[in-house]
Amino acid sequence: MAGNPKGDRWDSALYDDRHAFVWQRSADLIDVLNPQPGERVLDLGCGTGHLTAQIAARGADVTGLDASASMIALARQNYPKLKFVLGDARRLEFDTPFDAVFSNAALHWIPEADEVAASIAKSLREGGRLVLEMGARGNVGRIRKALESTLDARRVPYVNPWYFPDAAEYGAVLERNGLMVRAAEEFDRKVMLEHPEKGMREWLEMFAGTWLEPVPAAEKRAVMEELEQRLRPDLWDGAAWWADYRRLRVVAVKR
Ligand code: BEZ
Repeated sequence: MAGNPKGDRWDSALYDDRHAFVWQRSADLIDVLNPQPGERVLDLGCGTGHLTAQIAARGADVTGLDASASMIALARQNYPKLKFVLGDARRLEFDTPFDAVFSNAALHWIPEADEVAASIAKSLREGGRLVLEMGARGNVGRIRKALESTLDARRVPYVNPWYFPDAAEYGAVLERNGLMVRAAEEFDRKVMLEHPEKGMREWLEMFAGTWLEPVPAAEKRAVMEELEQRLRPDLWDGAAWWADYRRLRVVAVKR
């Protein structure tokens, strides 16, 4: 999950404890990958390694790679028998090409999409496949709008670190970097957040840290309350918080 190359802001233990839906809800992507015994697979942005382990369980020779040292440390602790390496998706350096590259919820952290696509293409053998899921255009749209409105109103300068392309845009990125798109789909996935009361706050703290970093310390609590207030009508159902996820899934093959 954590492909964020701009420093390690991940609390991997909290991620595993409270945000397991990120990998649990995408577990069927492994069926799309359909890893075969002995195949060399790269799990790009492997996070804490749970999907890497599911790929390994199908008999593939899998390597998990993540830009976050904290994620890699926990992945190694979770699955000591598997291979995990720290690395940058924009600059993959492997001596032997992979049969497949798999990626879940990582590539939307890296706006340099052409660099990533070229790097993936370089790491695949001819005919090798890429199977990915990431945020699609409009992903967490209400949350993003609330962040923009709240921070604009307070004149807090912010950076949007998220890259959520639609299928046409991302397909073009892959095609111009040597990957032929075989299938692409976008779909909504509403996700119930783990903690009934604190769910949205915990989600924002985990995933919107870059947006909230410039908020002065004295204003942080008020900003969080304002965000919850703006989001409540759409994303609180009276018992739980929800996130308005929208996903992009792509299968592509190296030319
Ligand atoms: C996602 O997995 O869609 C996501 C991750 C971080 C921030 C926003 C969305």
